[in-house]
Amino acid sequence: MKEQLETIRKKAEQDLLRAADKKALEDLRIRYLGKKGELTAILKQMGSLSAEERPVIGQLANQIRAHIEEELTARAAEIREAETERRLKKEKIDVTLPGKRRELGHKHPLNIELDEIKEIFIGLGFDIVSGPEVEYDYYNFEALNLPKDHPARDTQDTFYITDNILLRTQTSPVQVRTMEKQKPPIRIISPGRVYRSDAVDATHSPLFHQIEGLVVDKGITFANLKGTLEVIIKRLYGEDSVVRFRPHHFPFTEPSAEVDIQCFNCHGEGCRLCKGEGWIELLGCGMVHPKVLSNCNIDPEVYSGFAFGMGLERLVMRKYNIDDMRLFFENDVRFLKQF
Ligand code: DAH
Repeated sequence: MKEQLETIRKKAEQDLLRAADKKALEDLRIRYLGKKGELTAILKQMGSLSAEERPVIGQLANQIRAHIEEELTARAAEIREAETERRLKKEKIDVTLPGKRRELGHKHPLNIELDEIKEIFIGLGFDIVSGPEVEYDYYNFEALNLPKDHPARDTQDTFYITDNILLRTQTSPVQVRTMEKQKPPIRIISPGRVYRSDAVDATHSPLFHQIEGLVVDKGITFANLKGTLEVIIKRLYGEDSVVRFRPHHFPFTEPSAEVDIQCFNCHGEGCRLCKGEGWIELLGCGMVHPKVLSNCNIDPEVYSGFAFGMGLERLVMRKYNIDDMRLFFENDVRFLKQF
């Protein structure tokens, strides 16, 4: 019996050395120490021993049980450590590797330009206001001195929603809304989206952006208009820019003008960029028509004002020599990244 016990001890030791994981250890525990295990089986035969032998074998059996238990615990610790070691190796991080650069988004070129323009106007004491894109016929046309049968309506291909509701074709209705709400002095710009039923091509889009400007006070003259716009254009296009005011017609201003900038490519000689003109058209402007003032309950005998409107896309196209307006709306990052 003593030999049997010693054999169990040796076998258990060998098996333990071979056990590779927790599961194998548990199997061994059951095999040697469990109720139906090998050691238990031997102890069950103790009855056949003599009174002298029994305590000796009993003690030996207990020693072996304790020994196997200890070994099991020790082996379990070894296996745990080996597992941790393996995991650490697998999850190793090389802290000297370069990091992944996070791509930062940035502003759209139209917004870059608009923010610059806003800054300049804020510096001149202007407020920035906005108006609805879904607008009444009254504000978009009627109050701006374009009655229902006015031929100039045809030049602005309008998206009508109902007979008297439309998508605004210009930011000029914000002039009327502002004058209705606020008494002079008024100094505002109003940037925003406008809509015209135009087919898409390199210079047309059914949606584009305008920036409207309006100044109303006592004693405002065309000289104020010229001075203000010259300051703005020089800030935007450089101090050496040359501008000219060319007579034009708008129903809501009298007199009216268009402002051109001398072509920065050929300095007035005429080239491909300015289509041989020497000048590039930038914006429309004029003195607010007395009828528009009185439509807004502002007395044209007391107050006068000037207004202007410019297309944001055009300004940016001129500035960066971009020849296709569609680039602004296609969101191709190869284009957008250049700004
Ligand atoms: N609203 C005009 C357009 O869309 C632009 C314009 C011209 C606005 C003259 C003005 C102005 O305020 O005075 O063509």
